[in-house]
Amino acid sequence: MSPTPDTTGAPLLEADGVSIQFGGLRALTEFRLAIRQGDLQGLIGPNGAGKTTAFNVLTGVYKPTQGEVRVAGKRVNGWLPHQINHLGLARTFQNIRLFRALTALDNVKVACRAQGALHVEGVDFGAKLRGAALNYRDWWRALLLTPGFMAEERELTRQAEHLLEVMGLSHRRDEEARNLPYGEQRRLEIARALGTQPKVLLLDEPAAGMNTREKADLMVLIRKLRDEFSLGILVIEHDMKLVMGICEKITVLDHGETIAKGAPEQVRSDRKVIEAYLGDNYLETHGGAA
Ligand SMILES: Nc1ncnc2c1ncn2[C@@H]1O[C@H](COP(=O)(O)OP(=O)(O)OP(=O)(O)O)[C@@H](O)[C@H]1O
Ligand SMILES: [Mg+2]
Repeated sequence: MSPTPDTTGAPLLEADGVSIQFGGLRALTEFRLAIRQGDLQGLIGPNGAGKTTAFNVLTGVYKPTQGEVRVAGKRVNGWLPHQINHLGLARTFQNIRLFRALTALDNVKVACRAQGALHVEGVDFGAKLRGAALNYRDWWRALLLTPGFMAEERELTRQAEHLLEVMGLSHRRDEEARNLPYGEQRRLEIARALGTQPKVLLLDEPAAGMNTREKADLMVLIRKLRDEFSLGILVIEHDMKLVMGICEKITVLDHGETIAKGAPEQVRSDRKVIEAYLGDNYLETHGGAA
């Protein structure tokens, strides 16, 4: 039986022997991963294991010291995060990074707009010139409230409203992000990431700070997002019950090294994983082979 039965096609995101070093610290060593459409994979490990660093390398925040990151088949080492995002990779952050003074709706619209701008960028002239021309043109269109601009605004609003609805946030549409309860801010981050129309979504501890019920609901929702938006998803989460419950494949990091990889049942009975992360108590309380 395949550990990832629903996945199809070529990898949308690949890490091929990726390493990164900060001074003398090897934060990530020979990291390998492939995410395809339909994947729902987990990345786990103790604090400081290198999970967020892996996300940062995959999304262009850091350039790998070694190895190759490929998004949609393209080598993206050294690309900027927004360029990688345009290839279809979006993420949320462990420390929430919303536009705090903007409404929930506007937070998502900003993301939808960023993606919309890409569609206009079919024209083949220099990137800087193109950016400047688009800014100038958009500025005038916005100032004059041209019919084209108004129609585009309505479409962006409609898209953003749909994403708020999917994430159960319609009732917060016009509230400033900073006034939302913590759990809702986390869901808004996901809505915003979806606004860029990704093919792969990386979620860094999306359930952190939520109560048990909220966490369980979120995990069901994440699976729904995978299906509704035809995504590949990689999720970092410390709650083992949840991560093992929804993920078909799990990679375990410890001190930057991949110590195990496989289906949840394989990973939870792996001696190295138990020693480094789960602890012997885990087996006693959750069962599983030693
Ligand atoms: N920019 C940086 N400069 C120096 N060291 C860094 C940098 N970013 C991360 N590190 C170090 O790399 C290691 C891995 O950190 P990382 O944040 O990836 O861990 P994590 O697995 O996400 O942990 P947590 O579960 O606590 O979020 C840590 O020792 C951290 O201090
Ligand atoms: Mg982290």
